[in-house]
Amino acid sequence: MQVGILGSGDVARVLGAGFIATGHTVRLGSRTPDSEPLVAWKKKVGPSGSTGSFAAAAEYGELVLLCTHGVDTPAVIQLAGPRHFDGKVLIDVTNPLNQTPEGPVLTVGFSDSAGEGVQRLLPKAKVVKAFNTVGSLHMFRPQFPGGPPDMFYCGNDAEAKRQVASILTSFGWNPIDVGGIEGARLLEPMCILWVTCGIRLGSWDIAFKLLRK
Ligand SMILES: NC(=O)c1ccc[n+]([C@@H]2O[C@H](COP(=O)([O-])OP(=O)(O)OC[C@H]3O[C@@H](n4cnc5c(N)ncnc54)[C@H](OP(=O)(O)O)[C@@H]3O)[C@@H](O)[C@H]2O)c1
Repeated sequence: MQVGILGSGDVARVLGAGFIATGHTVRLGSRTPDSEPLVAWKKKVGPSGSTGSFAAAAEYGELVLLCTHGVDTPAVIQLAGPRHFDGKVLIDVTNPLNQTPEGPVLTVGFSDSAGEGVQRLLPKAKVVKAFNTVGSLHMFRPQFPGGPPDMFYCGNDAEAKRQVASILTSFGWNPIDVGGIEGARLLEPMCILWVTCGIRLGSWDIAFKLLRK
């Protein structure tokens, strides 16, 4: 499958390499597609990886991922061209954060979410929120002594969620569906919980898991 990933940061590069490792081809989108980190990424992943503008990546993707700075989503979607998302599954990995001296704070919540905002901006896309509750280091094939950690995801389209659950499984996660896209109201604050735990435990080698019997 052709995967278009909007973003050039750690998240985009890790997930892009993950899709390539699982047999897909990937185009990363950026305002500066020939930047040094993206040239290095292309060298690392080989011919299955390419880079282009946000629009080129969105157009390329049969599946698209939004992996850009959370508060700039409207600008990114405008640059990408909203029509390039029509009918497609869009995995929203973003967290709507502002950095403050006290740490990251959410700019939206708790009666709305960035995930819902993306779905409103792109009503013809099938938005699924996923991958936003863990650090980029562990997004692909997380290795923890307790087995596969859980990845919570949500979205309005059942078939889109089935596809994303299958991707999550192939990436080494146990997927947990938390309902419609309004579930992003729960998942986005979880990124702050993840950061807070990381700081207090002094480790970024952490991921969430529900215990069940
Ligand atoms: N880092 C993590 O471990 C982690 C974990 C979970 C979720 N997330 C979320 O995933 C997303 C990506 O995180 P990241 O750390 O990889 O990267 P980031 O530094 O949050 O974002 C970098 C990307 O945002 C784009 N961007 C920044 N300002 C922009 C603007 N004014 N207009 C258009 N595009 C702009 C950049 O575009 P250019 O390429 O053109 O510079 C770049 O592609 C964020 O929403 C973050 O909250 C991050």
